[in-house]
Amino acid sequence: MINAIAVLEQDHEEIKALFSEFADSQDMHVATLICDHLMAHIRAEDELVYPILAKLDPDLAAKAATDHTHAKYLIARIQSSAGEGDAVEALSLLGEAFHAHVAAEVDTAFPLLMAKLSHPELGQLGEQISERKRMIQAT
Ligand SMILES: [Fe+2]
Ligand SMILES: [Fe+2]
Repeated sequence: MINAIAVLEQDHEEIKALFSEFADSQDMHVATLICDHLMAHIRAEDELVYPILAKLDPDLAAKAATDHTHAKYLIARIQSSAGEGDAVEALSLLGEAFHAHVAAEVDTAFPLLMAKLSHPELGQLGEQISERKRMIQAT
């Protein structure tokens, strides 16, 4: 079984690598990959992880959910942008927001989940997250 935290951290690393790739290339195909990958990650967290977090620490979960709302707004802006200039600017904002949000998850939410969930629970959650992302990315 794959630990939920490991699944989420692997996503973070893959998305970080895509942001670096975009910074070097400004390739809009990479921008599309960032939006798709990040959206699947956010939706899996919203549906499967944050409800658990909300029971453990409602304030922390509310703050993290606000970050997700902001990211979804920027993703929609990138996906609907008419010119490349607007997309590049929105991607730069999304990159900054993503890095700050990931740092907060790693510092606060993930340690809390690791402390409060058992090994089997974390394993089962990891399976659910992987499955959910597969379904989202297949549609
Ligand atoms: Fe995350
Ligand atoms: Fe998140």
